[in-house]
Amino acid sequence: MLLKNKVAMIYEAGGSIGGAVARAFARDGATLFLTGHVRAPIEAIAKDIVSAGGSAEAAEVDALDEQAVDRHLKSVIDKAGRVDISFNAVGIPDSGILGVPLVELGVEQFSLPIVTYATTYFLTARLAARRMVENKSGVIMTVSATHSREGIPLVGGYGPAQAAKEALTRDLSAELAPHGIRVIGLRPQAMLETRTIKNAFEPRAKAAGMTWEQWQEMLASRTHRKRLMTLVEMANVAVFVASDKASGMTGTTVNLSMGSLDD
Ligand SMILES: NC(=O)c1ccc[n+]([C@@H]2O[C@H](COP(=O)([O-])OP(=O)(O)OC[C@H]3O[C@@H](n4cnc5c(N)ncnc54)[C@H](OP(=O)(O)O)[C@@H]3O)[C@@H](O)[C@H]2O)c1
Repeated sequence: MLLKNKVAMIYEAGGSIGGAVARAFARDGATLFLTGHVRAPIEAIAKDIVSAGGSAEAAEVDALDEQAVDRHLKSVIDKAGRVDISFNAVGIPDSGILGVPLVELGVEQFSLPIVTYATTYFLTARLAARRMVENKSGVIMTVSATHSREGIPLVGGYGPAQAAKEALTRDLSAELAPHGIRVIGLRPQAMLETRTIKNAFEPRAKAAGMTWEQWQEMLASRTHRKRLMTLVEMANVAVFVASDKASGMTGTTVNLSMGSLDD
């Protein structure tokens, strides 16, 4: 029970990563406040968590709307007294972002992921930090991707967006850690159970003349364990990072590429 008595916010808990992190946080004893821009998926996850004996509430909140995020945080503080963990798991659809060579890419299509990812992370982190600073304690987390650190073709502004999030993690930590607030990102590679990976990689496999199974094997062969990480393994790291056991960690993004990407 690494997160017993911790109050955790998860933005976009209806997504693959947000949902896996929510379930793992609940298993380790956190009280959860789940948000999403659509109500049904987060209500379903909250219901599952409560049926399994955990504590979770769901609320429809647009994680790009400053006033909505702040209003919701205030309601959480009113109910639970504080917020200990804030996890931003927002992922916008890749369909309007990937697949176009940079030389042909329009400015709006290029900037969409950069502005959206950086803004939602900034907003949710800043608003949580304002509450956490009163208790001189808290953990702010998000998720990025290996695109932040390697050159990948046809991903438009997605790589710069992930690099921006990792830079923001470092900068937030530099300002907030002196006030007791740790800021840490997770950088998973590809978790095959997620729709994100299938949607992003299936067309690339096809274009390379490979089957989906051959593509998965190719990705797995680049890791030291010769297999890709699972959502549960990623979420277990999230639990540790969010817990007081990780009090020595801040200002960094944890490399979860299982050896395929050097630090
Ligand atoms: N899956 C992986 O293996 C993996 C690996 C490395 C990095 N990542 C990155 O991690 C992030 C999350 O990935 P994921 O697999 O959990 O994605 P996901 O399953 O698509 O979840 C993303 C969540 O964000 C929501 N969302 C979409 N557009 C939004 C908007 N405009 N404002 C607020 N929320 C919005 C989605 O809602 P809807 O369901 O309504 O669309 C969904 O709840 C993405 O940036 C992804 O690229 C994923």
